[in-house]
Amino acid sequence: MNDATPEVLISEDDIQSRVAELAAQISSDYEGCSDLVMVGVLKGSFIFLADLSRRLEIPRTIEFIAVSSYGNKALSSGAVRLVMDVRGDLDGKHVLIVEDIVDTGHTLKYLIGIMKSHRPASVKTAALVRKADRAEVDVTIDYLGFDIGDEWVVGYGLDFAEQNRTLPYIGVIKPDD
Ligand code: IMP
Ligand code: MG
Repeated sequence: MNDATPEVLISEDDIQSRVAELAAQISSDYEGCSDLVMVGVLKGSFIFLADLSRRLEIPRTIEFIAVSSYGNKALSSGAVRLVMDVRGDLDGKHVLIVEDIVDTGHTLKYLIGIMKSHRPASVKTAALVRKADRAEVDVTIDYLGFDIGDEWVVGYGLDFAEQNRTLPYIGVIKPDD
């Protein structure tokens, strides 16, 4: 891969204002709810989850879940494997899955199934980015940051081969470079 600085696709300012809008929407939708559990999908969601959760004006707790990803390849097999489940009890709680990016949709669909097996009161989804043209399965994103095209993005938690996760913006790289 190249060592060049990724080209800016979504700026830090645009991310921050969109995250603030999503947090306001979530705070209003869950108003009066005392048992919201935000479930971050490791590793990619860690920065989005940190920023989103700190902007909420309602009580919330944080859990993490880990699933297998594509590894270092830019191709999806559609196969998803649970690596680490949540620790806390989700029975009767309101679960909000927080994902970095929805590509084919297989991962999010799988995660919704895992969450439902914990018998929560409700399951909703938030994703910072979606590659709408790549959808292979029908999955609802209740809170979406941005739609992008079919390109590999890094930064704000997202990686390519574990690199560039901590960029403050979302940038584009070309894995074949
Ligand atoms: P899906 O199952 O095809 O929707 O893939 C979702 C997962 O693939 C995400 O949670 C990411 O871990 C990874 N992924 C897909 N596209 C990108 C990208 O452009 N940059 C970084 N990770 C990506
Ligand atoms: Mg992910």
